[in-house]
Amino acid sequence: MNNAPKTLIVFYSFEGSTRFISDAIAQEIKADILELKVRDDIKTKGFMKYIWGGKQIFQKKSPELLPFDKDPNDYELIFIGTPVWAFTYAPALRTFFNKIKLNDKKVALFCCHEWGPAKTIGDMKKELEGSDVISENDFVNVLKNPQQNSLNAKIWADNIIGMFK
Ligand SMILES: Cc1cc2nc3c(=O)[nH]c(=O)nc-3n(C[C@H](O)[C@H](O)[C@H](O)COP(=O)(O)O)c2cc1C
Repeated sequence: MNNAPKTLIVFYSFEGSTRFISDAIAQEIKADILELKVRDDIKTKGFMKYIWGGKQIFQKKSPELLPFDKDPNDYELIFIGTPVWAFTYAPALRTFFNKIKLNDKKVALFCCHEWGPAKTIGDMKKELEGSDVISENDFVNVLKNPQQNSLNAKIWADNIIGMFK
């Protein structure tokens, strides 16, 4: 992989699926990871998470994030991953998009969901007008079918790296 781009995976994960896919990709293509962590994130994993999370989406909240330990502008290729929340990307990503301008970067977008990606990828693209979105993907019920999802993620990432050769 002589021409392999310097790659970062930026993601938020509430229950582990998006982290699982991010880890699989990072392992496969030797990428760095920046996990977005919300300072006062929701504590419950019960039904209340839908009420709490849904409200955040409808109110277009940008929750405070813990400091980043990587600078996305140091990278050539950036994967951005999110769970689908109320048909779009999670609020932590809104904070990220407000904070970091990814000009002239190659970007690969992915989301994890239970029913469908809805408008998640399209909504992320609207926030990334200065960058070049070169690929997109979505993963369904990741932790119920980890092996297949991990394999799909690795094949996808390898194909993207192949574009740089
Ligand atoms: C607040 C909230 C809203 C959700 N809304 C959707 C949705 O609109 N469509 C969908 O397919 N899944 C929805 N889900 C399910 C998650 O997208 C799915 O479980 C995803 O894999 C979670 O990723 P994570 O484990 O990285 O947090 C929602 C989950 C939460 C907590």
